[in-house]
Amino acid sequence: MRPLSANTGMEILGVDLRDPLDDTAYGEIRTALVETGVIIFRGQQLEPAHHLAFAQRFGPVPDAEFLETVPGFPQIGLIQKAEHETCNVGGNWHSDHSFDPAPPLGSVLYAHELPPSGGDTMFANMTTAFDYLSDGLKDFLRGLRVIHSKANAAKADPRADRQPDAELKQRFAELAHRETSHPCVRPHPETGREILWINQNYTSRFDGWTEEESRPLLDQLIGHATRPENICRISWEPGMLAFWDNRTALHYALNDYHGMKRVMRRCVVSGDPVERGAP
Ligand SMILES: [Fe+2]
Repeated sequence: MRPLSANTGMEILGVDLRDPLDDTAYGEIRTALVETGVIIFRGQQLEPAHHLAFAQRFGPVPDAEFLETVPGFPQIGLIQKAEHETCNVGGNWHSDHSFDPAPPLGSVLYAHELPPSGGDTMFANMTTAFDYLSDGLKDFLRGLRVIHSKANAAKADPRADRQPDAELKQRFAELAHRETSHPCVRPHPETGREILWINQNYTSRFDGWTEEESRPLLDQLIGHATRPENICRISWEPGMLAFWDNRTALHYALNDYHGMKRVMRRCVVSGDPVERGAP
């Protein structure tokens, strides 16, 4: 294994993901995932069935209901930006579906068609981000809740234009109104370490505060969490697979390749409720 930065990310070496993982390798890989937030594998040659089987080793993989999918594999969604499009999916600091009571455990992303340059992805470790706060601010934040709202996402989402039928379009529209109150600081369900559970895209305010009151502190915390010392940046290459822990890490998909096409294949691993007793 080789760290991608001091706090965030680990490259896993010497593994062919077409082969089943034995229990020892699986345990080491899972530990690297949950502690560093993202793991990468280079030089893979994965058919969709390999990609899906690897993801399923880590938990249930639901159908990708809001994306076009790989033919024959409803669980593998296509994250894509076409030559004529200007907005991308995930172009700011976020945790996927954090507005759900039980957001995903993580996502497994495999490069399918890459632009000649650009389209990197950045990751920030939100456990080390919390560790580096002062004791006073940690205590203050432990007492707060935050509202995560799909409607807070400011940018247009190109997936909304790609819904193939009216029913899916309607469900996508309903998703736009989903919001959930979460603790601002949550324990990681596997490591027990405290996570600063906010993000730029979906966290609209502290529960009981106005958005105007919330913005300065939320912006300060995101700036703190995403400073260069706490992130890693992945430059995609053919055959690369990245798997991020959607609890530990935020991610940011750079949108710097206009006029060029990028297609990624994604499996999402289901996660547990943020709070016990939540649906
Ligand atoms: Fe994302």
